[in-house]
Amino acid sequence: MELQPLGPVLGVEVTGVDLSEPLDNERFAAIRQALNDHCLVLIRGQELTEGEHVAFAKRFGDLQVHVLKQFLTTPYPELYVLSNKAVDGKPIGNHKEGWNWHSDWSYYEVPCFGSVLYSREVPPEGADTLFASMYAAYDALDPETKAKIADLKAVHSYSGYYAKAFGDREPLSEEQKAKTPDVVHPVVRTHPETRRKSLFVGEDIVKEICGLPVAEGKALLDRLNAHAVSDDFVYRHKWRVGDVVIWDNRSTMHKATPYDDKAYTRVMHRATIKGTDRPA
Ligand code: SIN
Repeated sequence: MELQPLGPVLGVEVTGVDLSEPLDNERFAAIRQALNDHCLVLIRGQELTEGEHVAFAKRFGDLQVHVLKQFLTTPYPELYVLSNKAVDGKPIGNHKEGWNWHSDWSYYEVPCFGSVLYSREVPPEGADTLFASMYAAYDALDPETKAKIADLKAVHSYSGYYAKAFGDREPLSEEQKAKTPDVVHPVVRTHPETRRKSLFVGEDIVKEICGLPVAEGKALLDRLNAHAVSDDFVYRHKWRVGDVVIWDNRSTMHKATPYDDKAYTRVMHRATIKGTDRPA
């Protein structure tokens, strides 16, 4: 197994591993360590069944099941499908999901730890995913901003995001809303394993900063969001079929990008690993 960094701040490619075969503890521990060291691990050229994908993701922890049950269209409810494809007129996945900077499920009290995304069909152009290191973003802040945001908290809202991203669709049900109430998290969090500080912001899901006048809070959030995704902190992933990308949601944000969805189909399966700590 070999490791090759993908860029200066984020990401490592691991080669010499076939995830469809049993992975011994030593090699899994090396992947787990690589995730802590690089925030994102890429393993290309995988041919996985849905069951093998789920089994690999479960090595990292328990998996979370998405509230949008209509997009759990494989035999495995742990796999959330992202796609523009329809079968018999019914979408098999959520199209245009995550086309905003975010970390997965930041709107839970205990947000998920990581995600394992597997590409089954990808367009020949477009549909890259951008990943940004929130360690690098935090480290690069000036001392005044670090002091200003040290104790700030912000509201993360799934219903706010859903209304903005999918306002043309059926609204969330009462049950879905009850499962995803707004939550408050610190704007700066400390990674429970590496103990490094990172910026914990995001577009659309982060609704407001608590305790500041609305206009001031919005201006600060906009400034932090713009800073967080500066080119210097970003790795752009160009997908090939068979890529497995694992990322740590506690130290990164990501954003999917558009493609010609009339000409091409994209099918991605995401397993999302439950977190164990409230951000602090
Ligand atoms: C996501 O997990 O938010 C979507 C990523 C992607 O579709 O590239």
